[in-house]
Amino acid sequence: MNDIAFLLNGAPVTVTGASPVQTLLDWLRESRGLTGTKEGCNEGDCGACTVMVTDDQGTRALNSCILLLPQLHGRAVRTVEGLSGPDGRMHPVQAAMVAAHGSQCGFCTPGFVVSMAAAQVNGATDHDDYLAGNLCRCTGYAPIIRAAEAVAGTPAPDWCRDHPTAPAGPAPFAPASSDELADWYLAHPEATLIAGATDVGLWVTKQLRDLPEVAFLHACRDLQRIDRVAGGWRVGAGVTIAALRAAMEDPHPAFAELLRRFASEQVRGAATIGGNIANGSPIGDAAPALIAMGARLHLRRGAARREIAIEDFFLGYGRQDRAKGEFVEAVTIPGAVPGLACYKLSKRFDQDISAVCGCFSIATEGSQITSARIAFGGMAGVPKRAQAVEAALIGRDWSRATIEAALPAFAEDFTPMSDMRASAGYRLEAARNMLLRCLLEREGRAVSVLEVAP
Ligand SMILES: Cc1cc2nc3c(=O)[nH]c(=O)nc-3n(C[C@H](O)[C@H](O)[C@H](O)COP(=O)(O)OP(=O)(O)OC[C@H]3O[C@@H](n4cnc5c(N)ncnc54)[C@H](O)[C@@H]3O)c2cc1C
Ligand code: FES
Ligand code: FES
Repeated sequence: MNDIAFLLNGAPVTVTGASPVQTLLDWLRESRGLTGTKEGCNEGDCGACTVMVTDDQGTRALNSCILLLPQLHGRAVRTVEGLSGPDGRMHPVQAAMVAAHGSQCGFCTPGFVVSMAAAQVNGATDHDDYLAGNLCRCTGYAPIIRAAEAVAGTPAPDWCRDHPTAPAGPAPFAPASSDELADWYLAHPEATLIAGATDVGLWVTKQLRDLPEVAFLHACRDLQRIDRVAGGWRVGAGVTIAALRAAMEDPHPAFAELLRRFASEQVRGAATIGGNIANGSPIGDAAPALIAMGARLHLRRGAARREIAIEDFFLGYGRQDRAKGEFVEAVTIPGAVPGLACYKLSKRFDQDISAVCGCFSIATEGSQITSARIAFGGMAGVPKRAQAVEAALIGRDWSRATIEAALPAFAEDFTPMSDMRASAGYRLEAARNMLLRCLLEREGRAVSVLEVAP
């Protein structure tokens, strides 16, 4: 009854009686002998385990080390073993890697070629972006990027285009709609909900936690909608970070750019906005932006629904305003957000968790600041608004003098901690500098961290 059915390298497979938290990577290597897919970090960071997953929403490169078998029901999986043609000829990205000398020890190579093959299917040509989640220790990236450039814009071979059909049985451990989920969760309030599994997957692979009762959310298609509503967008909890990034490019480019810095292609294709909010992390990237934008959170417990300002959801470190049996249904993002600016500071540009993430929505009339919503991640036990700083700005001139006068207020709002990502003093200084950066950018001074200003 718990059969999980999917296509593996073009052929139908059925997995019976597997633990719902068995990872695809372990299953591929241990049960199928498909050892081309490598285990590097086993936590979503290195991309050595990348596989291609296709469903009716398209093709994605995903990390198999944090993909759990039930998430594959009804989908198609293609591993590195399934890339070459039926006659044994190499896939064009494999041939390009050989020609460009893109592989030395070869441990990272299967992950790279699968990422490139998925990018080719999608016509993606921003190599820095889609390969940011694949790490290579020995070749160096230049030959790999040259291989990616060689295949960019060429058609993907037909043999690599999967067309999964709806499986006979329902998805195991996965309610089919948010109504079904609401009823089930009310009756099983101690269960663990699993959306993209980019956090929960690590509980399994790194913390070796037992999850006796789980429900997967990926079959709740009604949670994956982005709807235009009066005043903004209602984004379902099951919308992936990749889909949200695409949807926000036009209305809120600063938010979309922040989401481009969220993990990697493989993680963004699985991770959901609902999971990012529900985990309550003080260093999650979406929350500061959503707080600055004035987003509203929709929660549901059985038939009861409620709506709160998103900042009120985060009560304290590890504590959120969510009752047992209650889940995140959606978040509403306003359509008009004055002067949104989002800055993520991390040790690496790509694929790194924020040391400090600062988001600003500051409105002016003439030269006067009329409203300010400012929020930070990495500065407290929760993503938090900077209310003393906001108060020090509102009603004053939008000028360097005002900013400098407001800087001491940061110490009223925040007492950050020191950890491996940054010291307390660095965090406070960096947060202050973000406000200054906001002013400089609005004055037309380019301060992109990817460029060196003259
Ligand atoms: C390599 C790597 C890099 C990462 N980089 C970043 C980054 O740059 N920025 C960042 O913010 N995060 C990052 N993360 C963390 C993670 O990807 C995000 O928090 C992600 O949004 C979680 O979403 P998910 O769907 O995978 O959640 P899951 O892992 O499925 O769930 C996370 C938590 O939320 C709960 N949950 C999920 N959906 C709901 C719901 N609808 N209602 C109630 N509870 C729910 C689960 O029970 C669990 O407690 C990274 C993770 C990895 C592995
Ligand atoms: S093994 Fe490193 S991302 Fe999966
Ligand atoms: S070729 Fe050795 S890690 Fe990339």
